[in-house]
Amino acid sequence: MNKKAVVHFLEQKQKKEKIALLTAYDFPTAQLVEEAGVDGILVGDSLGMVVMGGENTLKVSMDIMTYHTSIVTRAVNNTLVIADMPFLSYQISPEEALKNAGRLISEGGAQAVKLEGPVSKYGDVIEKIIKAGIPVMGHIGLTPQSILEIGGYKVQGRSEACRKRLKKEAKELQEVGCFSIVLECIPSDLAKEITESLDIPTIGIGAGPDCDGQILVCYDLLGWGKARFAKTYINIRENMKEAFSTFVNEVKQGKYPEEKHGYT
Ligand code: KIV
Repeated sequence: MNKKAVVHFLEQKQKKEKIALLTAYDFPTAQLVEEAGVDGILVGDSLGMVVMGGENTLKVSMDIMTYHTSIVTRAVNNTLVIADMPFLSYQISPEEALKNAGRLISEGGAQAVKLEGPVSKYGDVIEKIIKAGIPVMGHIGLTPQSILEIGGYKVQGRSEACRKRLKKEAKELQEVGCFSIVLECIPSDLAKEITESLDIPTIGIGAGPDCDGQILVCYDLLGWGKARFAKTYINIRENMKEAFSTFVNEVKQGKYPEEKHGYT
């Protein structure tokens, strides 16, 4: 079967069909996420926190992103895979940005890249990547790579000036050629306004129900999520903990392994 392409996102918006995305960083999770029928997988630089245990995403390198992207793309058959461009992979120059985006496609096997920030900062970068034939997803609102500037993981777009700026940024990302935009942690009514003003789809995370699609970090729905928008669909975290401690207890008590677990 052919891989889903970014053009399908646009068709889904036109048909008012909601778009469901999840992050994945490893082989078994990516396989299950595909089997669940998502419209796309993001290999997010959130892995710097949820996989690597960092306090932010700033230590994620191109090598790490390329490695995890290649694992995820090996696991899926026809799901669109979008790879995040990590901190300092696109901020230095458009030439370096294109080289790095190209790595995520040619070495990682992704079909698109995502980068954080507005056209006023990265317009030339986004244009260069798109001109080379690599689809770009934008990301505004709470942009974790700017955490040192923002000063904390908090809702963006509460003041009138910030609302105005975010609406402008969304329009400009559409004009420069992004195929969709992630809206992270902004008030629901602002996300609705932005969504209705654009032809390209918006993908919300902590941005209310009116975006064209939703994305969650996979661990946030499995029991690890702490944010208000992270709904625990099943508490795998607790189940894993229980399984690990049962194993430890059984080993200590001599209950594992049993005869059937050995070889004659
Ligand atoms: O890195 C990531 O997982 C993301 C999503 C939260 C949108 O950027």
